[in-house]
Amino acid sequence: MFDHALAKYPSGSEERELLERIDEKRLPAHVAITMDGNGRWAKQRGLERNAGHSAGAEAAREVTEAAARLGIRFLTLFTFSSENWKRPPGEVQFLMDMLHENLLSRQALLTDNDIRLKIIGDLEGLPGKLRKKLMESEERSSGHKRMQVNLALNYGSRQEILRAVRAIVSARIAAGRIDEEVFSRHLYTAGCPDPDLLIRTSGERRISNFLLYQIAYSELYFTATLWPDFRAQQFFQAVIDYQGRERRFGNA
Ligand code: IPE
Ligand code: MG
Repeated sequence: MFDHALAKYPSGSEERELLERIDEKRLPAHVAITMDGNGRWAKQRGLERNAGHSAGAEAAREVTEAAARLGIRFLTLFTFSSENWKRPPGEVQFLMDMLHENLLSRQALLTDNDIRLKIIGDLEGLPGKLRKKLMESEERSSGHKRMQVNLALNYGSRQEILRAVRAIVSARIAAGRIDEEVFSRHLYTAGCPDPDLLIRTSGERRISNFLLYQIAYSELYFTATLWPDFRAQQFFQAVIDYQGRERRFGNA
């Protein structure tokens, strides 16, 4: 898989040099990213916030492809939180339209890279037409095996945890039988290993209601880079940083 990635980045390129520093045997299985800073990126350029979101969508495409080439098995992208509805209606509309548009025009990204798409979050709260497209994309990519991309949409972690509790209660699972394995199975991320690495761009150092249960032992990587500027190089850099950490999981 690694040879394949190397072939995509010409020798002498910055990406290639970074790739050669990554140990393919110690890759994070699951990387989660809070893609933050689109608005500030646009403002710095005297552009509308929405122009930042368009540039951010490009970064998401590039990083998704880079992660697949590297051999990452699960990539979770925080795309729209359950709190993002508070934004001005024009911005919310733009984000929804952009998602819809990307689903129509970016199917090749999933097909060419053998990527399975999964939506995590409250689908019911999304516009009906978008929901339909999302479900179609999930369905169409369901046999893809190389990497799973979880798009967190209308996602909030506390809501996810409460939903799991309700489902467990509704299923009348006996209290004594509720363990971590049972609980994890009722989260949106059922079937995914916990994230090994959580990245947040734009200099903010907060979790913001993202994967609260799942990140118990994740390595956290904060960078000042604004999301539209976070590309393959910056992603590889984050993986290199991750590989330099010592993970003890509570051990001495
Ligand atoms: C992240 O960029 C994108 C979304 C949450 C949709 P922001 O829109 O939060 O950009 P800043 O934080 O205002 O710069
Ligand atoms: Mg922000």
